[in-house]
Amino acid sequence: MSAETLFRPLQIKSMSLKNRIAMAPMTRSFSPGGVATSEVVDYYRRRAENGVGLIISEGTGVARPASLNDPNVPRFHGEQELAAWKAVIDAVHAAGGAMAPQLWHVGAVRTRDPVWTPPGPYDSPSGLSRPGKEFGAPMTDAEVADAIDAFGKAAGAAKALGFDAVELHGAHGYLIDQFFWEGVNVRGDHWGGATLPERSRFAAEILKAVRAQVGPDYPVIIRLSQWKQQDYDVKLAHSPAEMEAWLAPLADAGADVFHCSQRRFWEPEFAEIDGEAGLNFAGWARKLTGKPTITVGSVGLTGEFIAAWGGEQSQPASLDNLLERMERDEFDMVAVGRALLQDPEWVLKVRDGRSEDLMAYDRKALGVLF
Ligand SMILES: Cc1cc2nc3c(=O)[nH]c(=O)nc-3n(C[C@H](O)[C@H](O)[C@H](O)COP(=O)(O)O)c2cc1C
Repeated sequence: MSAETLFRPLQIKSMSLKNRIAMAPMTRSFSPGGVATSEVVDYYRRRAENGVGLIISEGTGVARPASLNDPNVPRFHGEQELAAWKAVIDAVHAAGGAMAPQLWHVGAVRTRDPVWTPPGPYDSPSGLSRPGKEFGAPMTDAEVADAIDAFGKAAGAAKALGFDAVELHGAHGYLIDQFFWEGVNVRGDHWGGATLPERSRFAAEILKAVRAQVGPDYPVIIRLSQWKQQDYDVKLAHSPAEMEAWLAPLADAGADVFHCSQRRFWEPEFAEIDGEAGLNFAGWARKLTGKPTITVGSVGLTGEFIAAWGGEQSQPASLDNLLERMERDEFDMVAVGRALLQDPEWVLKVRDGRSEDLMAYDRKALGVLF
């Protein structure tokens, strides 16, 4: 099939994109002391030069002491850190690209570093790292307010530096997602509650704080997932009605784009719904909110990314299923992770039909920035 449908331009508020392909956010841990290096600049520049429509950065920490659990992940606050990000966005723009930083707070996900610990206690809604597992103390009201403020300020900084949009990391069992998840948010106050819309207040307040900083015409993306790294089978929304009750308040609070994280984009979200059986998460999010959505998960590769961590090699896979969905406007954009980590030229190869040149994904690619 022709990949033409991926190469239609797209306008989202003030952001003009030349095609529908986003680079998925991917933590690389090549920013010692939290400051992106010139190798990081070159890494993103290369993707912009080679046709990626929208680059979404690796997760980057907001200004809370334990927003990050890895000393080599870049921060999005502080003079040196922001100067490094300015070099990134200037390089991406000079190469004709567009970029959004992914603003991140890891919450109650402990560091894997054997010697380093974050310079403050871990934040979490209820002092739980997974259902039933105690981990630190619940955030106080003041800490919740400070975290909301930190996301807002980081978004303001992104706009001031010249980034084209911002993305909030609300997925995969990190802080924002920990508030959504009843398994680890058992608060009895304003930030908790028995229903998903109640537990979404933290995300909604962050979106409002972000919107207040960036103004009405600046695109704000929020990344969400049903699955958690703590439990792949969790679902926050079990039906379209529950999904609508989750997403509509986020749209009202300022989300312009829903980035719907799945491990395999072709998996239907609600298999039991007749007639719409095939729609994936991004498909349902678009249908229920009317907002543009981004799909992701094993695009162009045979295996999914969690197995890839364990060493599974993925081979190039057909894009036909993706292209058919895109042609039906099931979603507006597609994010590509490992295929673009492995191969900066992936977009051009797809555009030009050079399928024989597409590469397998090997986790050895994680060890270098190229
Ligand atoms: C090395 C690596 C790092 C990742 N880091 C992040 C991250 O910082 N933020 C995020 O939202 N997702 C992260 N992800 C998930 C990807 O954005 C993407 O959703 C996932 O890899 C599935 O896409 P793929 O099958 O095209 O690789 C990461 C994935 C990989 C492989």
